[in-house]
Amino acid sequence: MDIRLLHPSDIPHVQTTNITNLPENYFCKYYMYHQLSWPQLSYVAVDVSRPKKTPYDAPKIVGYVLAKMEEDPQDGIPHGHITSLSVMRTHRRLGLAEKLMRQSQKAMYETYGGKYVSLHVRESNVAALRLYKNTLGFKVIGTEAKYYADGEDAYSMRMDLDYLKDEADMSDDEETVGKDEGDAVGSAGKEGDGEKLRKVKVGRQLGVGELVEKNESSAA
Ligand code: ACO
Repeated sequence: MDIRLLHPSDIPHVQTTNITNLPENYFCKYYMYHQLSWPQLSYVAVDVSRPKKTPYDAPKIVGYVLAKMEEDPQDGIPHGHITSLSVMRTHRRLGLAEKLMRQSQKAMYETYGGKYVSLHVRESNVAALRLYKNTLGFKVIGTEAKYYADGEDAYSMRMDLDYLKDEADMSDDEETVGKDEGDAVGSAGKEGDGEKLRKVKVGRQLGVGELVEKNESSAA
């Protein structure tokens, strides 16, 4: 099984998976909006056990997570949102949903500086609730009455992404120069012996608000 980023060419296949598994369906342009705006946040699970015979064969997409950053967070805190998640029945209970969610959450934190991730789920959706609460650690923060088109209420759930900072700190501590490098070679090899490696952030961690085009004509 391959878990990889969602590509635009996957979208029709993701739509098929979505339509098969959930009553909440979206136009192609809504998937495009997610993929183009936040290309690091949405993932697919591809069954690669039967390799493609020709370059024109479609990938066998058996699961996906469609995610975004909240454009204008009401609380002013940058955070991500899970728009949709599903796994085909044939491939459930293999840990795919958990893996898809964790990949997306990591990217929310690392790429967009997301502080937490939110989602809505049907009150009757026992499997998803157990995944979110027990496996991933989401908390219910409220109920939204008649959130779904058929009148069912939704739980509004949220999970802090602080744990990713702790994970990053732990991996920083483990990375020391000289640890796996073998014996020092010459005088250059001795330099920095035992010195801690420093992680350098590349790129700007901009909030989504800062990436929105502003109408600057009025400022003139
Ligand atoms: N019953 C009880 N608990 C479950 C179930 C289930 N049927 N399925 C998953 N879980 C819980 C378990 O705790 C499981 O751990 P375990 O297998 O070690 O017991 C844990 O979730 C992780 O399970 P995964 O294997 O990662 O989950 P899976 O890949 O099977 O996908 C999902 C779970 C996405 C809920 C799947 O059942 C599905 O696609 N359902 C239909 C679509 C859906 O409900 N999507 C979520 C809507 S909410 C939204 O999109 C924001």
